[in-house]
Amino acid sequence: MTKAEIQQVKQRFGIIGNTEALSRAIDVAIQVAPTDLSVLITGESGVGKESFPQIIHQYSRRKHGQYIAVNCGAIPEGTIDSELFGHEKGAFTGAIGERKGYFGEADGGTIFLDEVGELPLPTQARLLRVLESGEFIKVGSSKVQKTDVRIVAATNVNLTQAIAEGRFREDLYYRLNTVPIQIPPLRERGDDVWLLFRKFAADFAEKYRMPAIQLTEDAKKELVAYPWPGNVRQLKNITEQISIIETNREITAAILRTYLPVQNTQRLPALFGTRESKGFESEREILYSVLFDMRQEVAELKKMVHNMMAERAGQVGQMGQVVATPVVTTTHQPSVPAIIHAVQPSVCPKEDDDDIQDTEEYVEETLSLDEVEKEMIRKALERHHGKRKSAAKDLNISERTLYRKIKEYELD
Ligand SMILES: Nc1ncnc2c1ncn2[C@@H]1O[C@H](COP(=O)(O)OP(=O)(O)OP(=O)(O)O)[C@@H](O)[C@H]1O
Ligand SMILES: [Mg+2]
Repeated sequence: MTKAEIQQVKQRFGIIGNTEALSRAIDVAIQVAPTDLSVLITGESGVGKESFPQIIHQYSRRKHGQYIAVNCGAIPEGTIDSELFGHEKGAFTGAIGERKGYFGEADGGTIFLDEVGELPLPTQARLLRVLESGEFIKVGSSKVQKTDVRIVAATNVNLTQAIAEGRFREDLYYRLNTVPIQIPPLRERGDDVWLLFRKFAADFAEKYRMPAIQLTEDAKKELVAYPWPGNVRQLKNITEQISIIETNREITAAILRTYLPVQNTQRLPALFGTRESKGFESEREILYSVLFDMRQEVAELKKMVHNMMAERAGQVGQMGQVVATPVVTTTHQPSVPAIIHAVQPSVCPKEDDDDIQDTEEYVEETLSLDEVEKEMIRKALERHHGKRKSAAKDLNISERTLYRKIKEYELD
């Protein structure tokens, strides 16, 4: 494909950026579109994977057929087979009528399986069968049905790791991954960051009827150097925040910095899910991480002030008498409250700090990640009157993850 043709595709699908890796990904999508090969789109959260299955569908002979996007992580395990493959009337309690299912509906079209790594193993087996023979069986039926569906899948988790952990079928992985398309993270796209910022700033200026925000030279450098753990989604959100909040439309590096979560958030564990390699699923996670970081800093500061005051009063060594909790120690031995051990070592206060004086307040301020998470889930459930679907949406996690967490924290 010529550069001009790729440029045309970018324009049509609203894709900004000139990085070679991004153009190559678009080129592969266009080349593979007319075939019926399965395509697996990989890339960190927020890199822009969602445009690709649409490009593939639009440039294929199926473009007049159905395009169905399914978020595999959002459908509860109990109903996913019926949603994908349909069910017969009376197949299970509540199956009042029959259902065609997406694979039946999309006959002659394309199905985009987003977050494919979230599919339960039995569904993976059914999917493999459709991919290999175009055959599937509705839930509660014994009749084999045929469908002609093109599959494009996407994931932001490392599927090879999921295979190693027995959560994803290897044969299905190879079948889906016939043509891999990798979308590069934003931090590897150089000046594209700046182009994207300009585009988003212009869009938000129009949306909010205000002049577009501009960056000083220093701010521009800062923007390009920032690692963007939440990728384009994060950049878009930050540009929107600045567009709304800052009355002075010229943004300096110092101002910009106040909007960028501290860079060491990258070391923090993702709060939801156990897939550490996955990075941040949403701005919410980034915010949690920043919040957590701030808690740590506040705790450290309080501790310092506390120690200084105690020193002044000549009370060092006797603080155990000031506050008494089971985790408080009165000695100068290295001491970290039990609760802190629940936190990843990288975010723990240094254990070899001889002069740590644990106080009740300090313990409170250093709530473990688990507790923050539990509290967020409890509050979301409360807000949505126990409706798990809405709470999961609010928390930006899959319903299945929410079910698991509710069990884990005994919130039901
Ligand atoms: N190159 C781009 N040009 C313009 N907008 C983009 C680009 N890439 C991503 N975006 C925008 O960034 C946001 C996030 O993109 P998208 O939803 O496709 O991410 P994703 O890769 O599917 O992430 P996740 O794995 O979390 O689902 C969207 O609003 C999208 O329009
Ligand atoms: Mg997505």
